[in-house]
Amino acid sequence: MKEKKFGIIGKPLSHSLSPMLHNFWFKKYKVCANYSLIEIELSEIAEIIKKIRNNDLQGINVTVPYKQAVIPFLDLLINDAKETLSVNTISLSEDGKVVGDNTDVYGLERGFINKLDEQNLAQKNFLILGAGGVTPSIIYALSKKGIKNISISNRTIKKAENIKNIFSFIKIIQWENIEAEVINADVVINATSLGLKNGNNFKQEFKTTKSNLIYYDIIYNPEETMMIKKLKEKKIQTYNGLDMFIYQGQKSFSIWNKIIPDLNEEMKQNIIAKLK
Ligand code: ATR
Repeated sequence: MKEKKFGIIGKPLSHSLSPMLHNFWFKKYKVCANYSLIEIELSEIAEIIKKIRNNDLQGINVTVPYKQAVIPFLDLLINDAKETLSVNTISLSEDGKVVGDNTDVYGLERGFINKLDEQNLAQKNFLILGAGGVTPSIIYALSKKGIKNISISNRTIKKAENIKNIFSFIKIIQWENIEAEVINADVVINATSLGLKNGNNFKQEFKTTKSNLIYYDIIYNPEETMMIKKLKEKKIQTYNGLDMFIYQGQKSFSIWNKIIPDLNEEMKQNIIAKLK
């Protein structure tokens, strides 16, 4: 049987653990397939999509910075990709269409939002830091829960304004004003790359916060960002992005292979070991 080929496109990709996740499941479910890192330039997107169209590649994930950039090359957006204009999973439909889907929304729902106390959730103030590829998925997942008190802040304000064009109910905060704004937040979500392995960290201190603040970091590599470490010392409840990562992967896998892979502790521990 011919080996199926899958992969993730983006740049840089060295931090991605998606190959580990999918190759673990391929082995477990005896699917003859391989998932690899496909680091590409913007100008190479067309070529990759052609491989999907020709069935040389059976599916790809899309990560930073191409979640929006791939859209013009696709025939169809479905499900949450249509609502967020953000694509992280691409496949070829039975009738030969290159289809863009989004499993980040599901990942965030299962990996984070469902863990929050439902009581008064819609009244809580959410502050999202960052306006990159994953931010529309976060806002959409929150809005599905009736959460509309959402502020966003981004170093480059134009990108926050672009997101407000899709979700008009959000409030934009100047990047310089985060420290003042964080005081009002019930939940802060880091959707920037600040804190990612070997990268820059937040200059903000988050000196004054509500004592029952919940801090969620989309980053899972390292397992604890500097900000998580700092807030944990102040006894603030924190979550990293590992569960979101695993759930988005689970849904991508099921789209491509029509198998819903099991999420067990063994696999999670394998990933955590790899992060160390
Ligand atoms: P992209 O924005 O290309 O989709 P991303 O990794 O999804 O890539 O997003 C990176 C996010 O981290 C962006 O919000 C980015 O801010 P800018 O839009 O201003 O670039 C943010 N980010 C990265 N490095 C940063 C830094 N040193 N200070 C503040 N924000 C930073």
